[in-house]
Amino acid sequence: MGDKKKTTPEVVEMEKIVGFAKRRGFVFPSSEIYGGFGAVYDYGPYGAELAKNIREAWWKAMVQQNDNIVGLDSSIFMSPKIWEASGHVGGFSDPLSECKKCHSRVRVDHLLEDAGVFADEKMTEEEINGLLVENKEKLRCPKCGGSDFSQAKNFNLLVQSNLGNFTGDWDKEPTYLRGETCQGIYVNYKNVLDSTRVKVPFGIAQVGKAFRNEITARQFIFRKREFEQMEMQMFVHPDDAMDMYEKWRERRWQYYLDLGIKEENLKWHEHENLVFYAKAAWDIEYRFPFGFKELEGIHARGDYDLTQHAKFSGKKLEYRDPKTNEVYVPHIVETSVGVDRTFLAVLTEAYVEEDLGDDKSRTVLKLPKQLSPIKIAVFPLLKNKPKLVEKAREIYDELKMQYMCEFDDNGNVGKRYRRQDEIGTPYCVTVDFDTLETGEVTVRDRDTMEQERVSVDELQDFFTKNL
Ligand code: GAP
Repeated sequence: MGDKKKTTPEVVEMEKIVGFAKRRGFVFPSSEIYGGFGAVYDYGPYGAELAKNIREAWWKAMVQQNDNIVGLDSSIFMSPKIWEASGHVGGFSDPLSECKKCHSRVRVDHLLEDAGVFADEKMTEEEINGLLVENKEKLRCPKCGGSDFSQAKNFNLLVQSNLGNFTGDWDKEPTYLRGETCQGIYVNYKNVLDSTRVKVPFGIAQVGKAFRNEITARQFIFRKREFEQMEMQMFVHPDDAMDMYEKWRERRWQYYLDLGIKEENLKWHEHENLVFYAKAAWDIEYRFPFGFKELEGIHARGDYDLTQHAKFSGKKLEYRDPKTNEVYVPHIVETSVGVDRTFLAVLTEAYVEEDLGDDKSRTVLKLPKQLSPIKIAVFPLLKNKPKLVEKAREIYDELKMQYMCEFDDNGNVGKRYRRQDEIGTPYCVTVDFDTLETGEVTVRDRDTMEQERVSVDELQDFFTKNL
């Protein structure tokens, strides 16, 4: 084997990731044969596996490994009152402006950010418009380069629907597709308390789709209109909220390191201008191909959510401590991350182009094994030798009962290795003529490219140890 020299640039370019994701069946633009559908994407065969493994890793770290966190799967549709109580109907909006040259709609805070001007989330329409005028010379339309923009208007991000409304004027009383999954957790807090043995402090975790009418479709799956969140809400005594908050900040940072993300590609970002109810808000940012951007938000939300839902529903959402009898409204510590942003982060982190010397190179996805879409690929050395094919099939049929496996007899073994390297398969098993004599197969490691002989009888043990 030639000298392995890593030629990957510090940060892989976005076009490379987008092209690769499509070519190898990870991410497809939605409705592509109809010209696409803005800011919506589909996961292909390997992408669906990777997304599933991301959800499972998160669920394991939250629900499986903590005896005081339980899971929930609430509906996408909920009473519209929930979105009034949460503040989304009144205040969940982004400032929107139109380029007077090409008529594309742009988010004004992004426009300003691209021009090096910071726009505070809490600014009024008037203040934002003041910034637009002040910085007129610096602003450029990302689509056509134009510099003349209409007045900014706040645009609500909630996605409306006509569910259950048969009057024809549903837009007067719309229902909403949920804008964040955590509201389903808050409104089920009492149900969980009453139906399980949890006691404060306890958490409820949920994975599910959320919808936002994002103004600008950009940065691939980083900002989608239909996306998936993994949110955990910890219900805590008010006096313990900030300690709990710090604990979860630490734990979530460590989670990404355990997921194989290099620490130099992570950064903390503190929200300086907090929404009025939040006590603290920090983001974990990842070094995406377009720079450091929010991957996960960790928020101390105080008693705002339960108080609001108690007010709007007329139901008490207090907690009575069974030991002290103290009655209080629990405070909430939230951790919230997107499946899609984790997907983009792990793909960016794992994508490597390796120079193998002698004019040879390979693209390899150095995914942590738990996230790899396919765990083991099984090959017969030659596809026209029935005995080899039969043995390889036998091994494949056994391993696939436990692991996501792929059978491949197409092209030479070198090509098959490259194909599996590209999709991040940690192990390839090859059945050759010696296998028929000795009962041993070649197991090849994705990262080291080293090969070892393992007895077929010991394959299960080998993978139990290594996967
Ligand atoms: N419950 C809190 C909440 O929803 P957020 O910062 O709006 O907070 C949390 O979203 C996380 O959800 C983000 O850190 C990001 O990972 C993901 N997310 C938000 N909007 C997204 C979008 N349009 N596309 C993909 N992921 C998104």
